Amino acid sequence: MIEKIRGITASAVAAADKAGTVRELEELRVEVLGKKGSMTQILKGMGALPPDERPLMGQAANDARAEIEKRLEARQAVLRMAELEERLANEVIDVTMPGRAQKPGGRHPMTIMIEDLCRIFTGMGYEIAEGPEIETDYNNFIALNTPEHHSSRDEQDTFYMEGDGGFLLRTQTSPMQVRYMMRNRPPIRVICPGKVFRSDEIDATHTPVFHQMEGLVVDKGITLGHLKGALTTFARELFGADTAVRFRPHYFPFTEPSGEMDVRCYMCLGKGCRVCKGEGWVELLGCGMVHPNVLKMRDIDPDVYSGFAFGMGLERVALARFRIPDIRILFENDVRFLRQFA
Ligand code: DAH
Repeated sequence: MIEKIRGITASAVAAADKAGTVRELEELRVEVLGKKGSMTQILKGMGALPPDERPLMGQAANDARAEIEKRLEARQAVLRMAELEERLANEVIDVTMPGRAQKPGGRHPMTIMIEDLCRIFTGMGYEIAEGPEIETDYNNFIALNTPEHHSSRDEQDTFYMEGDGGFLLRTQTSPMQVRYMMRNRPPIRVICPGKVFRSDEIDATHTPVFHQMEGLVVDKGITLGHLKGALTTFARELFGADTAVRFRPHYFPFTEPSGEMDVRCYMCLGKGCRVCKGEGWVELLGCGMVHPNVLKMRDIDPDVYSGFAFGMGLERVALARFRIPDIRILFENDVRFLRQFA
């Protein structure tokens, strides 16, 4: 038996020293020392020996086992090191190779637009307030003096939420007037940029999601003169100091009187072209003096306070400002377009 042990040990040791990979070494370990390994079999056969031979043989087998283990470990350390060195050699980084350039991104023209508008109006002392895109029928319509039968409530224009909670996607930023006056007393000077939603067919000037910016000023002694002054100043800040504007009467339920402000066509400078449809003017925003009913519903006394409000579609302003011919380009996220603003 002792011969057998010696034989197994010698060949295991020789095989260990010859093993070329960690994996081969592991296979060898299983072959010799594993559950069904040759050395394990010997140890199992120990019971058949006469009792006085057992201690001697046991000792020899255990010594052999320890020796084989030691050799396996030593060889494994050598192989691991070799494998590591090989990997390091293969993974060498060529620091002289040209890098992959990071192309810096840019802001979307709508973001640029909103930031510019915020800068202009905060410069005139306005605060900025934002509100939810899901609104109540009350805030979007009723509190804005918009009667039940008004055409802007038409289901064809408004996205109503399912269920009978009275929720809808706001069709305008005007409900922010309501929200702001619920929490703030005059003097009020605030702008509210944000997304609005209407069930419109998509074409060169319409998308079902677009941006608006609302403005609201309420204080003692506010007149139409303040409205014209503020909005003219704004238009000149945005389009240039020599920009001509004009005000036309219009109708909105929440202002009285109401109007619209046009700017001189930025394409033809008033001669008449496709963009202004021959008019020489481009409509920019709706505005007016806040309706007394709107103030009353917020417990602001219209005999003491007055105000003006305005609302503009920001895509339209962006098209004008950047001379973009089609609103859809703003939503397509074509990098060839966006890159021009980086
Ligand atoms: N909310 C109006 C719209 O979506 C725009 C508007 C007009 C807002 C007049 C106002 C305003 O605050 O006074 O068409």
